Amino acid sequence: MMLLTEESTNTVLVLGAGQLGMPVLRAMSKKTHKNPSTKISVLLKEEASHAVSGSRKARLDELRELGISVVEGDLQRQSIDELSTIFRQFGAVINCSGFVGGPGTQIKITTAVLNAGVTRYFPWQFGVDYDIVGKGSGQEVWDEQLEVRHLLRGQSETDWTIVSTGIFTSYLFEPSFGVVDEKKHTVYGLGDWQHSITLTTPEDIGMLTAEIFFYQPEIRNKIVYIAGDTLKYIEIAELMESRWGDITERKLLTKEMLVEDVRNSPNDTAAKYRLAFARPDGVAWSMANTFNFQQGIKTTTAVQWLAIHDNIYSD
Ligand SMILES: NC(=O)c1ccc[n+]([C@@H]2O[C@H](COP(=O)([O-])OP(=O)(O)OC[C@H]3O[C@@H](n4cnc5c(N)ncnc54)[C@H](OP(=O)(O)O)[C@@H]3O)[C@@H](O)[C@H]2O)c1
Repeated sequence: MMLLTEESTNTVLVLGAGQLGMPVLRAMSKKTHKNPSTKISVLLKEEASHAVSGSRKARLDELRELGISVVEGDLQRQSIDELSTIFRQFGAVINCSGFVGGPGTQIKITTAVLNAGVTRYFPWQFGVDYDIVGKGSGQEVWDEQLEVRHLLRGQSETDWTIVSTGIFTSYLFEPSFGVVDEKKHTVYGLGDWQHSITLTTPEDIGMLTAEIFFYQPEIRNKIVYIAGDTLKYIEIAELMESRWGDITERKLLTKEMLVEDVRNSPNDTAAKYRLAFARPDGVAWSMANTFNFQQGIKTTTAVQWLAIHDNIYSD
């Protein structure tokens, strides 16, 4: 395990190297070519840090090639104090931990970051606008994300940056989400055909998180909106209709229907997501308001994503 003796804002610890963490690490590593004093580390569990075969070994090899140091830690098993001891060695923490550890884990990680006096924190808030959505969306994780924001705003020692991304682009096309049904050539609108949803790919989130991290003057204590696309459900129906080349059946799932679905299947995660996304605000924002648009940075649209992932429905 690497031990650092000096803390500075040039030492960055990324938590997790999964679907989101790896693109963030690749983009941060690329940025260090122009910012050579910045040292990037990643926190991985003990078994992942010492992998000798398989995908975890391949990941360690890639991390080494990227010049990224591995720090051992366990976000679920270690206490707040133990995590603080690790975090204290770093100037900045970027949290890409995902749904690790169950309820309370994001509060725990954030408390550990704040107790450690880390100078800059990017919390795991790569999602919707939890301020607008508020509590009671039916998504317990979203309620916790709002509490994390209260913790961050209730202190002044650690500067924070929230990167609002919407959903991962791939999720829109996941059959389990229940918006695009390839087999039936049907698109389901959630709540209202005029409601929108914002989507961004993990690769673009990684690239833009690195841009935002190194942006001058530094972006501190702000929510930064990014997007690959913001689409109304009616636009998603039109997009799929043009892709399928035949008449799309369009079915509107009203809020009442979605509430009923959740009532009938309270453990159905996708049903809960469909209900949570059936709203006029908080889950989508205009492209004009995004950091990428304002900086003239190109991101992947839904159409472009579909063109690249042409075979997603071939199984
Ligand atoms: N905006 C969005 O739509 C959005 C945003 C975030 C996430 N998501 C969803 O969440 C899913 C997960 O993506 P993600 O990148 O956030 O998470 P992920 O791919 O599950 O990655 C989580 C990372 O945390 C590590 N980890 C797990 N338990 C740990 C522990 N106890 N201590 C330390 N590290 C631990 C994992 O390590 P190992 O790899 O070694 O297991 C992995 O590197 C995605 O499929 C995506 O659909 C969606």
